[in-house]
Amino acid sequence: MSRIAYVNGRYVPHRQAAVHIEDRGYQFSDGVYEVIATVRGRLVDEEAHLQRLDRSLSALRMRWPMTPAALRFVVRELIRRNRLSGLGAIYLQITRGVAPRNHPFPAGVEPALVMTARPLPPFDVEAARRGVRVIALPDERWKRPDIKSVSLLANVLAKQQAVEAGAYEAWLVDDKGLITEGTASNAWIVTRDGELVTRQADRAILNGITRCALINLAGAHGVRLVERPFDIAEAQNAAEAFLTSTTSWLKAVVRIDDAVIGDGRIGPLSERLLSSYVDRVAAIGAAASGTVR
Ligand SMILES: Cc1ncc(COP(=O)(O)O)c(C=O)c1O
Repeated sequence: MSRIAYVNGRYVPHRQAAVHIEDRGYQFSDGVYEVIATVRGRLVDEEAHLQRLDRSLSALRMRWPMTPAALRFVVRELIRRNRLSGLGAIYLQITRGVAPRNHPFPAGVEPALVMTARPLPPFDVEAARRGVRVIALPDERWKRPDIKSVSLLANVLAKQQAVEAGAYEAWLVDDKGLITEGTASNAWIVTRDGELVTRQADRAILNGITRCALINLAGAHGVRLVERPFDIAEAQNAAEAFLTSTTSWLKAVVRIDDAVIGDGRIGPLSERLLSSYVDRVAAIGAAASGTVR
């Protein structure tokens, strides 16, 4: 089945989807984005994603390209047209629009909106348990990673370095030696006395929607959670480590550089959190009644 994209008011075949060469997203990275997971045609944490989108837009002094209600409609229409029936992901990008290249904000320009939809394979829970390797790299991004901007060059370079090192992700380390987050995920550890730790959502990290969902699940499980930074040495000595994101859900981190974490497999608390996250997504899917809502 051919994929359909949404480009500035039109649904078009994915392979023909294109924007103008003077789109400010293309020339200046002057835009924001969201990635939202879908399960059986239902959006996972739609509200939280749209709230974060609103924050990103405000931080860059950009307008919504349409009302949030209209945007919700377009997302659903895109899901329907792409017949996303299992797991899927919606990519949504808003840029300041198209204007002759000049740094200041252009006057009287409409923001540009594009969306794509893609099916995802079933989540591989066993692979998430087997876990992944991460490497530590300096965090060379700009000072506002809390804004979900399309300016991802430093993330791309770090991720590429991770891939070339045979790792799944890079954990980025700030000037004080503290881990901020991954290039496309949030970082977590479980200390040897059972405390769940993730960095506080300050300006140095993107406040992941999966991160927020996990914090709620941890609360429901009565887990002791501390939001504070940690360094590589602490992570390498932790009992457990994992990462979270919209499309990775929760994956155990079993090696950080050359240090093996725990017994090299998912730890007990990570396992509990993974299974409750899996159940949570399944419950969202089970609420779908065959129609896209
Ligand atoms: C830099 C960064 N941190 C964290 C995340 C995780 O955020 P979420 O759980 O909303 O996908 C992402 C997701 O792409 C990201 O790019």
